[in-house]
Amino acid sequence: MAPRAPMANWLNDTNDVTAVFLAAGQIPNLINLAGGLPAPDAWPVTEISELAGDVVRDYPAETLTYSPVPGLPKLRDVLAERYSTPTLPLTRDNVMITTGGAQALDLIGKVLLEPGQKIAAQSPAYLGALDAWRPRTPVYAPMQLEDPACDITAAMSDAQFAYTVPNFSNPSGRLVLVEQRKALLAAAQETGAWLVEDDPYGKLYYDGNPLPTMLEMSATGKAYDGPVIYLGTVSKELAPGLRVGWIIAAPEMISALTVAKQGSDMFSSGLCQMIAARAYSEGLADRILPANLDLYRRRRDALCAAMDEHLSEFLTWEKPSGGMFVWARVKNPAISTDALMQVGLEHGVCISPSSVFDPEGLDQSGIRLNFTLNEPEKLTEGVRRLAKALSEMR
Ligand SMILES: Cc1ncc(COP(=O)(O)O)c(C=O)c1O
Repeated sequence: MAPRAPMANWLNDTNDVTAVFLAAGQIPNLINLAGGLPAPDAWPVTEISELAGDVVRDYPAETLTYSPVPGLPKLRDVLAERYSTPTLPLTRDNVMITTGGAQALDLIGKVLLEPGQKIAAQSPAYLGALDAWRPRTPVYAPMQLEDPACDITAAMSDAQFAYTVPNFSNPSGRLVLVEQRKALLAAAQETGAWLVEDDPYGKLYYDGNPLPTMLEMSATGKAYDGPVIYLGTVSKELAPGLRVGWIIAAPEMISALTVAKQGSDMFSSGLCQMIAARAYSEGLADRILPANLDLYRRRRDALCAAMDEHLSEFLTWEKPSGGMFVWARVKNPAISTDALMQVGLEHGVCISPSSVFDPEGLDQSGIRLNFTLNEPEKLTEGVRRLAKALSEMR
């Protein structure tokens, strides 16, 4: 038999860390600080199950058959209204529905990247974005936005787009300040690069009021035709299992993304879109937010208090003011955090090492810890286990 045709080269350019931490889910009594999962207590189970029954009964044509590629008009209209301000008048032509934020990232890669082109990415960068764009074999210009020496314009020149998570970035938990948002917009203007504003954590502010989005900051009072491609999702506001996300952008970008979506999954679940439309238009998402913020604030405080007690000898970190993650660096440069992940697993705790958030896969100096999934007692026990692992590696 003739040898089979080879697989594409980009498959050799991944790491096995993700597979290791996904498999870790099978280990009994493991405390998982590695993922980015919302708490099951945060899901509005009763309300969503009632909405699901209602929308199938009331809208069988929208929920049970094929839908328009860019999304159900009802949900596009609800979102256009939700994001409109006096200076940002949006219509459904500015909105496209995706199968989660993950699909939005994939489609952006499809419409903007030829193989080998450049992305200016906030560093460290979201693993799911790196994975989405890997088949396009991009080159990355990293941007450490909090570093005053970071030359954003240089990073963005010749780039197809800049990728940022301005609200409590995954993995760093950092907030991109208004001045840095302005600098990103100015650089987009100067270089012609698109500016991807990925915003799953935009509602999860625990200590202050939300900063303006770059989408809002680039509004002119006229129909939106600016450089920002804004991404939202129900995943951290309602439930990730619904797999509903959205893109807000200039109509020319929405049209291009629609062509890409047609060749990808044709349309996102009408049932889930209709649930999301009702959840937003009837105020469910806004109603559950205060309780969820309290829940997550307590968990953040518990994780950080346990870290203060057990980990300050080994790690440095900043307490985040929102989102789902604490990002920490090892004090001892001889400790590799890929190795720490393995030793942590032997002690019954799973963390995410920084290598998976580095396009080159090289950074071994950091870890990401999630605080939303587990109750405070488990967070504390997870931190104790991590401290044991670190003291063994000393
Ligand atoms: C920064 C970022 N972007 C996008 C996503 C994708 O979210 P989803 O596909 O669940 O909407 C996530 C999920 O954790 C994320 O952290």
